[in-house]
Amino acid sequence: MAHLLALDQGTTSTRAIVFDERGAALARASRPLVQSYPAPGWVEHDPEAIWTAAREVVADVSANRRIDAIGITNQRETTVLWDRATGRAVAPAIVWQDRRTADRCIALQARGVETLIRARTGLLLDPYFSATKLGWLLDQQNFRARAERGELAFGTIDSFLLWRLTDGKVHATDATNAARTLLFDIHRNQWDDELLSLFQIPRALLPTVVDCAGPIAKTSDGIPITGCAGDQQAATVGQACWAPGTVKATYGTGCFLVVNTGDTPLMSNNRLLTTSAYRLGGKTTYALEGSIFVAGAAVQWLRDGLKLFQRADETEALARAASPSAKSVFLVPAFTGLGAPYWDPQARGALLGLTRDTGIAEIVRAALEAVCFQTRDLTDALAADGVPDLTVLRVDGGMAANDWAMQFLADLLGVPVERPVELETTAWGAAVLAGLGAGVFRDTSETERLWKLDRRFEPSMSSDERDARLAGWKDAVARVRSSIA
Ligand code: G3P
Repeated sequence: MAHLLALDQGTTSTRAIVFDERGAALARASRPLVQSYPAPGWVEHDPEAIWTAAREVVADVSANRRIDAIGITNQRETTVLWDRATGRAVAPAIVWQDRRTADRCIALQARGVETLIRARTGLLLDPYFSATKLGWLLDQQNFRARAERGELAFGTIDSFLLWRLTDGKVHATDATNAARTLLFDIHRNQWDDELLSLFQIPRALLPTVVDCAGPIAKTSDGIPITGCAGDQQAATVGQACWAPGTVKATYGTGCFLVVNTGDTPLMSNNRLLTTSAYRLGGKTTYALEGSIFVAGAAVQWLRDGLKLFQRADETEALARAASPSAKSVFLVPAFTGLGAPYWDPQARGALLGLTRDTGIAEIVRAALEAVCFQTRDLTDALAADGVPDLTVLRVDGGMAANDWAMQFLADLLGVPVERPVELETTAWGAAVLAGLGAGVFRDTSETERLWKLDRRFEPSMSSDERDARLAGWKDAVARVRSSIA
């Protein structure tokens, strides 16, 4: 049996899981990751803390076990700038949720360059992506001059981990992570000089772009790294969404809905992202993606910020216990602005429709519902883009364990929701890519059989009730939008 180690570096934790080639998890390890918020709208990580946690979880799961191949998957867009000589980051990592570059994006929008950016990268001009974060970093201290002299390296977290795991021998990223930087032409599959000059990014900073599976690198102790993809793309693979039209939604810190669109980079008219689902054998399979910034993070805020309950899994019983008046309560969790399909970085969160009997259960239920309403916004945008109607949605991530939320999701979408047995689908996807790259799996169809259904949720809400709830949500969102959006 081959042993495939998935290293999943996420926004709130760093995890490693060893899978065998049938998809059984043999060992798991995890470390929480602290985020810091040094100014309003700013979100940072300490790259050294990421590296320490990565080393520890890899050591934990590989103790007394042979590892045949490693697959890396990661929070995307998060930007690290490091010194090539020492391997040390020159500043904290700027996390994907960070909004400090909103003004830069507005200034670029005013120059009328968004159409070009969109055509080349499939993305939008939003602080979410790496380019303006990197531009901001380069404007600090003497970093731009050092970058121009070739002394610094840029990377998303995959790149930084690859560098560290190989003792600085490999500076690479995979095509799915590159596709989130605003610097990569997803059609020609290469860094784009025009975009580099638009964002004033020296080419000397950039990693080499590789496939998601193949001989990417070897760790300093000789273990092949043969898989790499951004976490949402890895989850797409883990959910076996290999066929055009298949769709998954992952409920982690945020929620990301990804539709495989095959060979065609479909351009959305409804502010969804066109991106790479995976690149295998030099061939890109494209995806449409809807990105919601706050999903599990809303539950986390209720638990850690407001201290309404102690464990996330208490939310299911609380939601079930909510009074009927909960139906008028809406939480819009726009803590860091709104993502797809609104893309309003200045919007902020709100809790609306409170009555005298609104309590913890009603607020918790509104938070779970908000995640489902936002998913519905995404499926509406897909439908408006002419993507054939969903027939089923595959879900994963922490919140997918919540039966109440998944039933509400099926009710709101009006389509069945399928939950697999392995909810660490992102890690499994990284293991699949590592297995493909190492020749453990011959082809993608071999991995399709390994997807196992845990539970299917069938929609049961009346269309009248659904419409009324959706109208309430739309009204709530309209109230938090900024005037500039
Ligand atoms: O684009 C950001 C995304 O990759 C972060 O995912 O799982 O850390 O919420 P997660």
